[in-house]
Parts: sequence; C-alpha cells; structure tokens
Amino acid sequence: PVIFAITPTYKRIVQKADLIQIANTFRQVPSFHWIVVEDAINKTNLVRNVLRMSGIRYTHLCIKTPAEVTKSKGALQRNMALSWLRYTFSAGKAPAGVVYFADDDNTYTLELFEEMRYTKKVSVWPVGLAGGLRYESVKVNKDGKVVGWKVKYAPTRPFAIDMAGFAVNLNLILENPKALFQINAKGGYLEPSFLIDVVQMKDLEPKANNCTKVGVYYFYSENDKLHQNVFEIQRFLVV
Ligand code: UGA
Repeated sequence: PVIFAITPTYKRIVQKADLIQIANTFRQVPSFHWIVVEDAINKTNLVRNVLRMSGIRYTHLCIKTPAEVTKSKGALQRNMALSWLRYTFSAGKAPAGVVYFADDDNTYTLELFEEMRYTKKVSVWPVGLAGGLRYESVKVNKDGKVVGWKVKYAPTRPFAIDMAGFAVNLNLILENPKALFQINAKGGYLEPSFLIDVVQMKDLEPKANNCTKVGVYYFYSENDKLHQNVFEIQRFLVV
C-alpha cells in the first residue's frame, strides 16, 4: 500500500528547516506520496523548492486559513488534502493506501511508516511528548482490543488521540466523503471531530507492539525556547 502523508505548513522562520528535516525522513520511506498543503493564498517558492529537491513523489496545494479562524491549526489544509484524494480517486481506481496526518514539526521514525502501512481501517500507536506526558497512548486489553485512552489532557474525549497517533485506510476516506476536520472544534477535539465519522473504538488496530513503542514525537512550538529566541532575533533584525 501507498502511504499518503498530509502535511499542513505555514510561513514562519523555521519552516524551511522543519520541512527539510521531515523530507529527509520521508524520502527514505518506500511507496510514499507527500501531500503538502500551504496555509497561504498562493503556493510559495520556498515550499516548491523543498519539494522538488526532496525527490519524493508529492502533490502541492494551498488554502489560506481565514483570519477569523483562530483554532484548529491545519484543519482546512487537511480537509483540502482529503478532498484531493476523494477527487483523484473518485472513479474507483484507488490504489491500496493509507492516509497519515504528518504535521511539519514532529519527529518521525522510519519504523512508524511500516507499522501503519497495513492498516485495515484505523491504526493507532503512542505519540511521544504529547499532552504533557512522556508519551500518550491507548489502553489495549489482553485480547489486543483498544478499550480507552492513556492521556492526561481531556481524557473523556470520544477519541483522545493526537493527530500524529493514527492512520486511516484510503478506502475508508473515500467511503465516508463527509468525514472532515471541524474548524470550530475546541482544543483537542479536532481529531475526534474527524474520527467519529470514520471508525468506532472497537475497530481501532493497535500497532507498535500493542501501543508500547514510541515511533513519533510531538513538538510543542509554543513551549520551545529556540522559537522564542529566534522570534526575538527576527524582531531585532527587522527594527
Ligand atoms: C495540535 C495538534 O498537533 C494539531 O494536529 C492540531 O491541528 C492542533 O493542535 C489543533 O487542535 O488546533 P499544535 O502544536 O497546536 O497542534 O499546532 P502545530 O503543530 O503548530 O500545527 C499543526 C499543523 O498545522 C502543522 O503542520 C503546522 O505547520 C500547520 N499550521 C499551523 C498551519 O497550517 N497554519 C497555522 O496557522 C498553524
């Protein structure tokens, strides 16, 4: 199966460094198609150049988040990529595939992609450094079924899973054309707003050794001192 990785991205001082870093990972993944959606009115040369240089098979799109949408970063961009998949494979000629929402600031292991490749419906695994924990995960019972969430943040959510912690079979995306990310979802409810339309908890497929191994690490840009320092330097240079 082909892995379709959907990456929203937006202009900031570390954008190019982040994109090059994940491109260096993604280019090592066989049978991989990168759908990069810029949060911008027009596609930029910066992103175009990274994509061209990467050697990765890609689709380059853009849609600007309106100023009044302040929550749900990347939601419109992910929805556009879902629309692209539905349009492209509308004639029933979809390849065997799996869809993964790969934000541009996370750290991905190569093993992660082989874990997700054979997803029947929706596969799940732990996400390192997410939700104020060393890692967030799911509860798996002795029969290998997902029965709940191992999270600190908002544990009563219908699907308490970070964007980086699941992948969806392409057919499921095509069979549920109305499944989209809700741009008005409050914090942490963006993932469930999409997942409730495609899967039930009992059908989740735990990967990564029954969800005990971390293969992806979340990145909190807000908490990162380097970002703050770079921002200060940038302001200094502008002045
Ligand atoms: C967390 C989750 O990891 C996101 O998947 C989720 O969309 C978000 O919360 C939410 O619920 O709103 P967070 O760390 O707050 O994400 O956001 P970022 O990692 O900064 O952004 C997520 C993705 O959206 C990134 O790929 C980023 O490049 C993109 N983004 C961010 C935009 O396209 N536009 C923006 O204005 C900000």
